[in-house]
Amino acid sequence: MKKEIKKFAVLGHPIAHSLSPKIHLLFAKEFAIDLEYKKFDINPDNFFVNVKRLEAEGYQGLNITLPLKIAAFAICDQLSERSSFCKSVNTITFLDNNIIGDSTDGRGLLNDLSNKKINTKGKNIFLVGAGGAANGAIYDLIQSKPKKIFLTNRTFTKAIEMKKYWKSFAEKNQVTLETIDLDFSNRLNFDLIINATSSSLTNQHSPLPEHALHCLKDDGVCYDMMYGSQTPFMKEAYKKTDSVYDGLGMLVEQAAASFNIWHQLAPATENIEASLKNL
Ligand SMILES: NC(=O)c1ccc[n+]([C@@H]2O[C@H](COP(=O)([O-])OP(=O)(O)OC[C@H]3O[C@@H](n4cnc5c(N)ncnc54)[C@H](OP(=O)(O)O)[C@@H]3O)[C@@H](O)[C@H]2O)c1
Repeated sequence: MKKEIKKFAVLGHPIAHSLSPKIHLLFAKEFAIDLEYKKFDINPDNFFVNVKRLEAEGYQGLNITLPLKIAAFAICDQLSERSSFCKSVNTITFLDNNIIGDSTDGRGLLNDLSNKKINTKGKNIFLVGAGGAANGAIYDLIQSKPKKIFLTNRTFTKAIEMKKYWKSFAEKNQVTLETIDLDFSNRLNFDLIINATSSSLTNQHSPLPEHALHCLKDDGVCYDMMYGSQTPFMKEAYKKTDSVYDGLGMLVEQAAASFNIWHQLAPATENIEASLKNL
């Protein structure tokens, strides 16, 4: 009897650069799972129709990337608590005619930080950006019990809205949220600066002014969610510390969390970044 291939895909716009198919195929190899993982460039206007088409074609799950995560949140029949809070879905599972949504970006970030032995408990974190990635990660960041999370964004009102939205969840977890504008003059001490902006796609300069990096502690860490090349933020950060990371590890870990949702298996992630570079 012919073995049935499990079908998955990632949807985004654009999508050509996506590493998700390679990562999921590497995970599947570990467990000898026969799966197909495609990528589809989907216009946001036709999102729902395409999701239903793929469900009808027998796809078991989908990953969702820019700019479709909020659209995915809006079409789900059931949501995990995390995606419900973050108002973002990057992992869809089709089950009994239902679209089930989850968000694994925050787990991806926290697992990558943990792999890199970067502890967030009791620390001061400066989170730059107030878009989908920042809001997708803050649920898990708060649950990791830092002391304070400082929020900022180019459009500062969005950082203020973000603080308002997450305030009570932060308070329940004994975490303080504070907004700071980019001209802050008070002396602050950050253990970890996370760039969750897409600034490097369009800008040759770091989204942070130089004085912000002076507030990084001597043993502090800088993390850019972008991956693929050294961003202007990372270049500036290297002037202050050697502890600078891009978001490739986060990408691999968020994929591992999706894989776990679909297959109930925890793939080994430690060699995936090296394997991707050799492909
Ligand atoms: N490694 C991973 O697994 C992973 C996962 C998710 C996302 N990401 C990356 O995270 C980044 C952000 O994604 P997103 O989903 O949050 O995008 P988004 O929802 O479009 O938000 C973009 C954010 O970047 C800010 N921004 C854009 N251009 C800027 C500039 N020139 N200077 C300063 N700030 C600027 C925006 O500020 P305004 O509000 O002022 O426009 C906003 O805060 C993307 O590069 C994405 O690839 C990585």
